[in-house]
Amino acid sequence: MSRVAEGFPAAPLPRSRDLEVLRSAATGCAACALVSTGTRTVFGEGRSGATIMLVGEQPGDSEDRAGRPFVGPAGRILDEALEGAGIDRGRVYVTNAVKHFKWTPRGKRRIHAKPNGVEIAACRPWLDAEIEAVRPGLIVCLGATAAQALLGKDFRVTRHRGEVLRLDRGTPVTATVHPSSILRAPDADRAAAMEAFVHDLRTAATRAPG
Ligand code: URA
Repeated sequence: MSRVAEGFPAAPLPRSRDLEVLRSAATGCAACALVSTGTRTVFGEGRSGATIMLVGEQPGDSEDRAGRPFVGPAGRILDEALEGAGIDRGRVYVTNAVKHFKWTPRGKRRIHAKPNGVEIAACRPWLDAEIEAVRPGLIVCLGATAAQALLGKDFRVTRHRGEVLRLDRGTPVTATVHPSSILRAPDADRAAAMEAFVHDLRTAATRAPG
């Protein structure tokens, strides 16, 4: 559900569902307070017609600097898992529920802060437009923020991981963990967590037509 954040202009969504037009319009988005925390809008990456769309939470520090989704530590885990699952990242559309980096300072570092419901809702028009533009065969939510943005705030990845549900417009959607959860896993559990993540991606690939 999209909502205008109080005191901010609505997302400047164009009529076009061409990804380049959307990307360009999104650079000027100031629809929530995160416009002043993130350096830039980090729009999704990939091509229209990609069979799988991966949706993360929001860009991290590296993504904010690079202007591209999932290129930092979580992105490296994602790349490794995609390779393990036999999925070519070049054939996947990768994006985030929120397109600006939210952080709090700790010394010289910018520490990830979770986006709130207003920020997620303000950014939702971009995610909806990306779904309309890409028309993926399957959306894979990476972690709770993406899953709750698309499937409602009562959705629990722990309970419904791997189930295939449908958005209002019929697009199949499933959820797995966020790759950063693998980075955070205790050493003894990391290999199993990665294996389960790869398994989820491999299963998703078999469910995505095309
Ligand atoms: N975490 C995310 O959810 N998305 C990114 O692009 C990077 C880290």
